[in-house]
Amino acid sequence: DWKMQDVMDEEIKTIQSMVGPDEHVICALSGGVDSTVAATLVHKAIGDRLHCVFVDNGLLRYKERERVMSTFESDLHLPVTCVDASEQFLSQLKGVEDPEQKRKIIGREFIAVFDAFAQKLEQEIGKRPEYLVQGTLYPDVIESCPPPGSGRTHSHTIKSHHNVGGLPKDMKLKLIEPLKLLFKDEVRKLGSILNVPESFLKRHPFPGPGLAVRVLGDVTAGNALETLRQVDEIFVQAIKDAGLYDTIWQAFAVFLPVQTVGVQGDQRTHSNAVTLRAITSEDGMTADWYYFDRDFLVDVVNKICNNVRGINRVCYDITSKPPATVEWE
Ligand code: XMP
Repeated sequence: DWKMQDVMDEEIKTIQSMVGPDEHVICALSGGVDSTVAATLVHKAIGDRLHCVFVDNGLLRYKERERVMSTFESDLHLPVTCVDASEQFLSQLKGVEDPEQKRKIIGREFIAVFDAFAQKLEQEIGKRPEYLVQGTLYPDVIESCPPPGSGRTHSHTIKSHHNVGGLPKDMKLKLIEPLKLLFKDEVRKLGSILNVPESFLKRHPFPGPGLAVRVLGDVTAGNALETLRQVDEIFVQAIKDAGLYDTIWQAFAVFLPVQTVGVQGDQRTHSNAVTLRAITSEDGMTADWYYFDRDFLVDVVNKICNNVRGINRVCYDITSKPPATVEWE
């Protein structure tokens, strides 16, 4: 792909001229396509002056931290430090119900973790990193705050993506966002030129604020996060087993803070509802819901109700974007 080869060469030059010869850079790796490709690109440009960090914010999917850390090591050969900041994030989110508020808090806490990481590095290498790499894509920018002259018509924020509109104004680190003008399919092409393994490039997108935008309302209430992890894992695993993972743009579960009446055995239950969402899309800007076979859905719903405590009702979201968005918050 010649166009992507050019984009890569251009970006490498830009990064090299932006970052001085003895300056250091940190990169937040999420385990997703965007940050992995961004890190690999910056690593190619400046080598081991790049320091990657993976933040466990307590809002990750089932076993995500273990899975991501082991693949970084075995497949990517990028040195990554894992920071467990789950207590910090969850304590700040306690009792917060407003979706935009949650996004802003998460953006702010991420930056606090990166600042602390930069400070720790300064003690180790004698130089404070000045830059932060983020895998921001064009659609993130458009939906958070359309750039002037972009010709885009959104006149106000749809959602403050945690890495764009959610960033604090007083942040010290300067941003490097090499993917800012690209769409997801272009990032996947760039990643394949950079030899990022297929297993990474094919991963479904996952929002930076993580499960916080998939547990509606207060994320810390009851056992919501743990319950959601189990439901989500059953759903996504079933999609993989059915060979549908690559056809679907994104598939996930959402925890609803709603209790409904059910019956199990001959017992009345009063438990939570979840909804499943699976979509097809080109770029995340618009989306269609995915039409599963009846048998597939019956099977998944049975697995969820039989295996996950506290769930007695499963819905399937058949709303496109627009009028809905992909995430529920
Ligand atoms: P929405 O819900 O805005 O989602 O229709 C469009 C795509 O963006 C992802 N998403 C995010 N990604 N930070 C991210 O990195 C965010 O704050 C964020 N919010 C939504 C979403 O999963 C979908 O792929």
